[in-house]
Amino acid sequence: MKKNIYIGEILKNEEIQNDYFLMKVALNNSFAEPQPGQFVMIRIAGLSEPFLGRPISVYSFSRGKSFCTMELLYRVVGRGTKIMAGLIKNSQVEIHGPLGTPFAIFPAKEKIVFIAGGIGVAPLSLLAHHLCKNVCYDKSQMTFYLGAQTAEAIIGLDRLKKLCYDIHIYTDDGTLGGKSLVTQAFQKDIKKYQPENTVIYACGPNGMLSVLAKMLKSKKYNCQVSLEERMACGTGACMGCAVAIRDNNGALAYKRVCSDGPVFNLQEVIWE
Ligand SMILES: Cc1cc2nc3c(=O)[nH]c(=O)nc-3n(C[C@H](O)[C@H](O)[C@H](O)COP(=O)(O)OP(=O)(O)OC[C@H]3O[C@@H](n4cnc5c(N)ncnc54)[C@H](O)[C@@H]3O)c2cc1C
Ligand code: FES
Repeated sequence: MKKNIYIGEILKNEEIQNDYFLMKVALNNSFAEPQPGQFVMIRIAGLSEPFLGRPISVYSFSRGKSFCTMELLYRVVGRGTKIMAGLIKNSQVEIHGPLGTPFAIFPAKEKIVFIAGGIGVAPLSLLAHHLCKNVCYDKSQMTFYLGAQTAEAIIGLDRLKKLCYDIHIYTDDGTLGGKSLVTQAFQKDIKKYQPENTVIYACGPNGMLSVLAKMLKSKKYNCQVSLEERMACGTGACMGCAVAIRDNNGALAYKRVCSDGPVFNLQEVIWE
């Protein structure tokens, strides 16, 4: 078996909301514990189409005595995720990972703000769980802003309610929670959060993250974002996932989302 590539067995793969699936996979216990923000490349074992794996964030992970289990929360958007959605219990998947750099943790910061758009809830949910369980954050220290186009695309809420007391829901069409873009809603509240005491973690479509970048440009928040780019190798070999960033000297450089990221400092990414 190649390094970091495991055969996982599907324990369940259920549609939890229209086009949103939760897959639970059993893996050999030698699989390394994923850190929040890391992802896996998933392929259907023994299937040549689609040839390339698809990057999916780790939504939850637990280690038992004889095997470990990992959950992936995913939305069906195209060929690969459609094939994933059709997999039944006991099917085998090839899991390459955990991959990428995780979110940085700043235990001295008193307040954590999460901003998620749609499926961006997946890595942030694992992070919230990690901060509660391993970094001893209290539920009252964490505020979650969750937005989506419509009520049907608000997912993962039951799990979030166990992690944070303060959850703000927004939909573009007002079918659940407030009718607003999640970034606009956060902007209205921004004065509640002192930059020196707060860390912001965000994940969602690039449009949402670029608005956030403009909003926070002249402010001194520590904001980390997890980027979604199309990937080929997933391990830094092909440059297929390169994004433009500004390095420490202000010069333009390219970084690979799969291996240098997917987590970046919001202000280092060039969004135009
Ligand atoms: C680090 C990382 C973590 C991710 N985590 C999750 C997750 O937890 N759950 C989840 O549902 N999705 C996640 N994604 C996105 C997921 O990888 C894509 O939706 C998936 O690869 C699409 O494959 P497909 O074959 O179904 O779609 P394709 O047929 O390849 O494409 C269908 C449509 O989706 C768009 N698309 C494809 N890949 C991406 C992408 N990476 N980002 C944005 N748009 C894309 C295409 O442009 C096209 O419009 C993540 C992506 C990255 C890079
Ligand atoms: S996908 Fe190949 S370098 Fe990132």
